[in-house]
Amino acid sequence: MINPNKSLMLGVIGHRGAAGHAPENTLASLAKAAELGVRWVEFDVMLTADKAVVLFHDDKLDRITLTPGTLDETPLAVLRTLDAGAWFDAAFAGEKVPTLEEAVETLARLDLGANVEIKPSPGRETETGKAVGEALLSLWPGKLPSPVISSFEAAALAAARDAAPALDRALNVFKIPRNWKKQLQQLDCSALHCREGELTAAKARAVLDAGYCLRAFTVNDRARAKTLFGWGVEAVFSDFPDRLMYDPVP
Ligand code: G3P
Ligand code: MG
Repeated sequence: MINPNKSLMLGVIGHRGAAGHAPENTLASLAKAAELGVRWVEFDVMLTADKAVVLFHDDKLDRITLTPGTLDETPLAVLRTLDAGAWFDAAFAGEKVPTLEEAVETLARLDLGANVEIKPSPGRETETGKAVGEALLSLWPGKLPSPVISSFEAAALAAARDAAPALDRALNVFKIPRNWKKQLQQLDCSALHCREGELTAAKARAVLDAGYCLRAFTVNDRARAKTLFGWGVEAVFSDFPDRLMYDPVP
């Protein structure tokens, strides 16, 4: 049961869908996140060899599809023959690597907002950012809250900005760089997404005082989430959103 007084629900974003419960970046993972009650999910997007935007995290295919090769060199039709669920659990065998279009249809059906993280293959930063910005502009359903585009790659964010200037952007960082404010300004970002272990109360304060929104990844511990929210972090990305949203079973 959600305890409305103690729930951390509003600030919890399902990471790669709900990656602790279902194979990451699949439609099943998005559905699991919705079933758990989250309102927003994050997922990673990349370009196939033939420029299809698909949900995938790694340059290499092997971890998720148990197949050699790279996403970058694989056309969509071949990618679709691979299994993206069995690696996680036999119960998910048959899950496919979804296209962004399929994911957006699923989000609309489940009424989920999304942070779309651009994860370009090396050398395809600009091409991927442009493709993702254009695709979101043409696919995004008006009934959903506007998506947030994020990336660790400044070139991808710059291309997404040029293609879809009206969409919110966030810069992802593992470590807050010295010139973080300048980067956020140049990319016209509204938020910084930071690895949770990098944050301190003072670093969070500096980001907030500069007028930016702060979100932290990846947080699977309820006490840590509470600390981060106490520092002004707006939302955390979690593989197990239920751990943060619901009171622990006594
Ligand atoms: O977007 C937040 C988080 O997903 C960034 O790290 O490697 O899980 O995509 P990663
Ligand atoms: Mg991600």
